[in-house]
Amino acid sequence: MKICVTGGAGFIGSVMVNYLVKNYPEDYIVNLDKLTYAGNLENCKEVENEPNYKFVKGDIADREFIFKLFEEEKFDVIINFAAETHVDRSVEFPDEFVRTNVIGTTTLLDACKQYGIRRYHQVSTDEVYGDLPLDRPDLFFTETTPIHASSPYSAAKASADLFVMAYHRTFNIPVTISRCSNNYGQNQFPEKLIPLMISRATAGEALPVYGDGANVRDWLHVEDHCKAIDLIVRYGRVGEVYNIGGHNERTNLQVVKTILEAVGADESLIKYVKDRPGHDRRYAIDPTKIETELGWKPTYNFDTGIRQTIKWYLDNEDWWKRIISGEYQNYFKEMYKDRV
Ligand code: NAD
Ligand code: TYD
Repeated sequence: MKICVTGGAGFIGSVMVNYLVKNYPEDYIVNLDKLTYAGNLENCKEVENEPNYKFVKGDIADREFIFKLFEEEKFDVIINFAAETHVDRSVEFPDEFVRTNVIGTTTLLDACKQYGIRRYHQVSTDEVYGDLPLDRPDLFFTETTPIHASSPYSAAKASADLFVMAYHRTFNIPVTISRCSNNYGQNQFPEKLIPLMISRATAGEALPVYGDGANVRDWLHVEDHCKAIDLIVRYGRVGEVYNIGGHNERTNLQVVKTILEAVGADESLIKYVKDRPGHDRRYAIDPTKIETELGWKPTYNFDTGIRQTIKWYLDNEDWWKRIISGEYQNYFKEMYKDRV
């Protein structure tokens, strides 16, 4: 199969690309990424010379470019990770979220309609369900929980999901959607909670905890997320949504304290700052459907997975220091100056 992974230079997309290239030598993987600030080809270094891998730089919302690419490549499968992903940025600059997350998705769907596709998979998020109250630990997001987005980011992701389902119903495009909880692991851009706090704690800088730090996120290791997507793409039922999560609910304060302890820094670094506007209180996934239908189970336990992840950031300071300094922006130009 020829599989196009969009956003394959980002945090999760790059794990998917590496996984597919290594585990399916009979498949051909095209990594399509615009290389925004969040895209980093270093994340795909391990596979960049493999015969079943190719990188293409481009924008999923650029209609002319996407149609030409689809015409040339004749993809069997699209896995759409490409998105603007940071909630705080969406509060400041919603336009780019509409452009990439909504128009980018409809552009890909139109190309699938025009050139045909065996499967279009939309990588969505549990944030489309809004949030759950802290005092009802018995409640979880299921696939039938109504969409109720809170932030411009989640509103754009929710809109994309609605278009994906509409194109299935109206044009018979064979689609699936996955909605996963918060991911952690190596190579995450240091604007997100876990890598941000690790980088600041090691530098002895204040850790900005929003509000009271009691907000709950349900953490899943990025490799478990990608294995779940692979199962859905190959064995999931067309037209279905699958939630992905491993029952690892932690308050932000618990996560921050785990990081402080692991890097040997003091809790006095914690600084409570002004809350994020519209800040979702709790996310919690019910993964029963994917577990029972597709036999998926997470392989990582959060307590050991988070420690391995913290160790990775400590062992790879160069990686995030280059990102913070902006130097990695030159990586693409250097590595691919003769190829694109
Ligand atoms: P990320 O921000 O690390 O990476 C996004 C990637 O998309 C980058 O490589 C970027 O260059 C690329 N991109 C952005 N705009 C593009 C465009 N217009 N055309 C082509 N490429 C473009 O994001 P991530 O954390 O890896 O998330 C990937 C997907 O998974 C997103 O769709 C996100 O909504 C979803 N998701 C993320 C999480 C999480 O915890 N990070 C959880 C559930 C779902
Ligand atoms: P984030 O990693 O941005 O993911 P999301 O908002 O998509 O869940 O944030 C995770 C949680 O951490 C969220 O409740 C906001 C909180 N947070 C802070 O308290 N301080 C920070 O500096 C950041 C980036 C996030």
